[in-house]
Amino acid sequence: MFHDPDFMPFTPRRKPSYRAVTHNYLENYAPEAYRTDFFTSQGLWPVIPPMHYVVDPELIEELLVTRAEAFRRDDIAAKALRGPVEGDTLFFSEGAEWKWQRRAISPAFRYENILALVPFFVRCAQAQAEEWRRLGDGAEVEITEAMSRTTFAVIEKAVFGASENFDGERFIAALRPVLGSFAWRMLATMFRLPPDWTPYPGLLSARAGSRFLHEETVKLLAERRARPEPTRDILGLLLSAKDPESGRMMTDAELVANLHGFLLAGHETSAVALAWTFWLLAKDQASQQRAREEAERVAGDGEITPETVENLAFTRQVLQESMRLFPPFAALGRQPREDTTLGSHRVAAKEPIYVLTWCLHRHEKLWEEPTAFDPDRFSPERAKARHRYAYLPFGAGPRICVGMGFALTEMATIVATLLREFRFETVPGHRLELAPTFALRPKGALPLRLTPLAKHAPARRAAHDARVA
Ligand code: HEM
Repeated sequence: MFHDPDFMPFTPRRKPSYRAVTHNYLENYAPEAYRTDFFTSQGLWPVIPPMHYVVDPELIEELLVTRAEAFRRDDIAAKALRGPVEGDTLFFSEGAEWKWQRRAISPAFRYENILALVPFFVRCAQAQAEEWRRLGDGAEVEITEAMSRTTFAVIEKAVFGASENFDGERFIAALRPVLGSFAWRMLATMFRLPPDWTPYPGLLSARAGSRFLHEETVKLLAERRARPEPTRDILGLLLSAKDPESGRMMTDAELVANLHGFLLAGHETSAVALAWTFWLLAKDQASQQRAREEAERVAGDGEITPETVENLAFTRQVLQESMRLFPPFAALGRQPREDTTLGSHRVAAKEPIYVLTWCLHRHEKLWEEPTAFDPDRFSPERAKARHRYAYLPFGAGPRICVGMGFALTEMATIVATLLREFRFETVPGHRLELAPTFALRPKGALPLRLTPLAKHAPARRAAHDARVA
């Protein structure tokens, strides 16, 4: 077990604060959220409805799995997110519309399709390594930005294949204010103000960013429609996706919205999860070395491949423990379709229910020494002994993340590849503050110091380049 004060970088507030909503809304999760099962905040009549909070695996199972059909996405998050994420997507659809979109999209994320992408995940990690190597020994890097670039390169190529007209840097620059607007949009929505029109810092750049992203995605789709030969990237699979029951295919509006959603959700979540993972490994050097030795053993003289990626068992444990302490989505929202109960609690149709993933993952009754970093919590024996819904970085039930397999394979490949190239260390004097928006991000920089590891690297790179060519 590795302890560090940064692993719980704030004190939960006894009384919620509006300032915390836009600065670090995790502070508003009351101290009891780390030890109880369910509680309700009374809201602010008539503007803010009462809100219910769930941190109990049994109630979570009822909410997300066994009675999932009785609940939909909550109005506050849905309104706040609509804008950053477009309307006609899998993420927002409900009922029969959701079912058909899920059936159409799922084949693109089949395991064999994901494994085929492993050489490409390696190549993206190697490109990042090249860039870092040029900085020299002991360089300081901002790991969140670096991982954003790497995972964006991954998702862009996985979604669109080789498109010459894609300006990744501009896409990321346009996304930044869009993602940053989320907390302000939440606050506006809580007060029943229209999030698209309520002034907040960065409104104009968020609006311009959304417009740019939409227009570029429309262009990329048109470009592909103009050369209709089948491809195995996600767009190719979506273009040929047909509902086996109705024969229906996706409209251009649905395609654009979902592609846009994949680019956004698919890179930001993995980027922050990877950044937290390297930062945690920089703190816990023993786990870092253990993961590096595993990567060396699994890859031998070559690279991680579709055949060997599954053998990165400890690396996956590290990723799981990293997403326990710093889950990319700190909460999940639902709302009943009509007045109902959850366990023994009454919930009215207008009242949202939040699963507080951040608190569940640090719950005193579910985890031993909850704020310590210990990848061995996820050893097969220890994981088996735990309630299945005590841990849900990807959600649960029918709406579980469709990109989960993609993200886990991508992240394991990137971690293993980069650990073989560099030693990661923290920068003295840096103290963590959190600034969650769409995903759980640090406030400001998350700096790390890198030492290149020369062993085997040139031979490995040459072998890899030859294979990719
Ligand atoms: C570490 C990476 C990721 C994390 C932690 C994550 C987390 C989540 C969570 C918690 C949900 C469930 C939301 C809910 O139930 O309300 C979700 C849904 C979703 N995720 Fe992910 N995600 C990740 C990566 C990805 C990737 C790579 C993609 C696609 C390329 C993706 C696409 C989606 C979509 C489309 C949904 C909506 C599914 C539905 O409603 O049926 N995610 N994700």
